[in-house]
Parts: sequence; C-alpha cells; structure tokens
Amino acid sequence: MSRQLLGGISAQRFLREYWQKKPLLVRRAIPGFQGVVSRDQVLELACDYEAESRLVWHGTTTGWHMKHGPLRPKDLRRRGSWTVLVQGLNLLNDDADALLHRFDFVPWARLDDLMVSYASDGGGVGPHFDSYDVFLIQGTGRRRWQISAQQDLEIIEGAPLRILRHFQAEQEWLLEPGDMLYLPPSCAHNGIGEGGCMTYSVGFRAPAAQEVATQFLVHLQDYLQLDGRYADPGLALPAHPGELSSKMIDRIGDIIGRIAWNRHSIRDFLGCYLTEPKSHVFFDPPERPLGLKAFAARIAKRGIRLHRKSQLLFAGKSFYLNGEMVEVPQADRAAVRELSDRRALPALANPGATALAMFYDWYCDGFIEADGR
Ligand code: SIN
Ligand code: CO
Repeated sequence: MSRQLLGGISAQRFLREYWQKKPLLVRRAIPGFQGVVSRDQVLELACDYEAESRLVWHGTTTGWHMKHGPLRPKDLRRRGSWTVLVQGLNLLNDDADALLHRFDFVPWARLDDLMVSYASDGGGVGPHFDSYDVFLIQGTGRRRWQISAQQDLEIIEGAPLRILRHFQAEQEWLLEPGDMLYLPPSCAHNGIGEGGCMTYSVGFRAPAAQEVATQFLVHLQDYLQLDGRYADPGLALPAHPGELSSKMIDRIGDIIGRIAWNRHSIRDFLGCYLTEPKSHVFFDPPERPLGLKAFAARIAKRGIRLHRKSQLLFAGKSFYLNGEMVEVPQADRAAVRELSDRRALPALANPGATALAMFYDWYCDGFIEADGR
C-alpha cells in the first residue's frame, strides 16, 4: 500500500535510509490527488472556533506578520502574497483522517496531525526548519520547494514566526498535485506558492525531553501513595532556630526516596499521555443514540470505527483510549488491538457481553461510530 506513496521503495527501505536522515521527493505519490478540502473550506475553517489556524504574510518593508485564528472573513480578503494554515484537519474531516492514517508505516504513537495550507501566488511561511519529520503533499495548484542541509539555523530574532536569517537553497523542485516531499527534522526549507495552491503536511510528534519528563511527574503524582508523616522524636536543641538541619533534610530525603516507578508506570504514562486529546478537542456523543440492542444489530452488520478524534494505543494487555487506561477482557484483546491498528473493525457478529457493553459505552461517549466501513 505504501509503496506508491513512497515512490516505489518499500516502507522498510524508507525507514532505513530516509526517515530522520534525508529528504525524499516522490513524484505522483498520490496520483490524481485533488486534496480533501477546497480553498473556500480552508478559508471558512480559518474563521471557525473549532480549528487552530494562522494567517501569515510578508510585507516588503514591514517584514513578516502572523495572526492567529479564528480569523475574520475580512482578514482573508487580501492582496499580495499570504498564506493561511489550518492545523488538525484530521480532527475535523474524515477524508483528512483517512489521508493521515495512510502513513501507517510509522507507529500511530509518532503521528501528530494533518495540516492544510492555502498560499496565494508567492505566499508561504518563509524559510525555516521544523523540529519534526514532515511529509508535504501537494494538493491543488503548484508550489516551489527549496531545501538546504545548511548547519546555520540561526533565526531572525523578534520575528513573529521562526524565519532563518540566512537561507541558502541547495535544491529546488516545483511540486504538482499528488507529488510529495519528505523532510527530516532540522532540514531547512521554503515553500512558495505558484498561483494559488494548497499543501497538506503530515506532521509527527517527538516530545521534548523536558516536556515528557514534566508530564511524567504530573502523571506520577496521580498514582502516588506514600504513608506516614514527618516525625522527629528526640529533636536536639537547635544552635540556630533559623537553620534547616541536616537531619531534617535527610528525613525528607528518605520520604522523597520512596517515590518509585517502574517500566509499567512509564508504559501507562505514555499510553495516557499520547492518547490524551488536545485541549480544544471535545467529543460529541450521538444526538439520538441507538439502544443497546439496536447497537448490537448495527455492529453485527457494519462493524465499528474509531471516531476521527479518538486515539487508541496498546502495549501487551494494556489499552489506552483518549487519555484513559481501559480494561479489556482477555477474549476481546485481539479485536481491540485490531481496532487500534486499523481504526476500524468489520462486522462484529458475536462480541461477548462485556465487549458489547464496552463498545456501547465508547459509542455513547462519541469515541467510536457504529459503522466500520
Ligand atoms: C505550508 O506552508 O503548507 C507548509 C509549512 C512548512 O513548511 O512546514
Ligand atoms: Co516547515
């Protein structure tokens, strides 16, 4: 499946030779690709509270400008070169979700979102580098991409977005609809619209060490259970009442030293952390949910599918759905692993009573849909 997407090379070879290492240009990665949304839909989304968006433009004398959405329609009635970008298109549109999940040769745990941009003639976000891998898929229109392996990654101080101070293009290509460019982290690049054009970016997540450690500590405190209390029988008369005695520091050190974690704590943290919906994501339970019996009959015919906003990961017998650990009975684990891998399950004729109740709860929460196709 991924061979065409990767220009005829296998996913194994891509991961071995290109992933996190060097750029890859693929002509006709998605032949006949027309994009998943129109220019007008992108502009509309940029004005919507549900979407995360940005408008970027460059004035010859005033430099770079950026405005965060939601935008007003009049912000988008512009002349000159500009671009509007909408993050998380996969959360808003099923086709966008399907496009993002075509990249299944990278684990879902590394996948972030699908962004779409519309750029007017000459528009773009300027020369920059990203800290993440990205696949840039050309939608309608054409875009010139310039890239460089330069080591000088100094950015213009004070600019509203990260623009390289000295960008020296080493290679460039004009991408046509359906062409794709893979860039590893820190590869300098600049994309310039030729006529109005749309670009889709498949973005990945690679949390910063500081972020992941901080979040682990937050997770740990929810599960921490330390008994006892500070005590100091036999307290010696202090020479300096204002001094923190070394005895007190040692006793508190003993308490802190009882904070313990193991590989399971790390696994559970990771599962919850990576499936946690972004702060602006809310699930919509079905307006008129089917009753349990009707639900069972429906999924027996049509199966189930994760809602595009849902994230389900697993590690062995442990399952994580939208930021929570979920208990899955042993008999149903294979099915739920398949649901995680493929994001859908075909006709579910005879789920056990516990699995049925579990899927029904997920359906009522808006986490899954009773239609796997
Ligand atoms: C875009 O403008 O669509 C892509 C932004 C980027 O270069 O990362
Ligand atoms: Co970029």
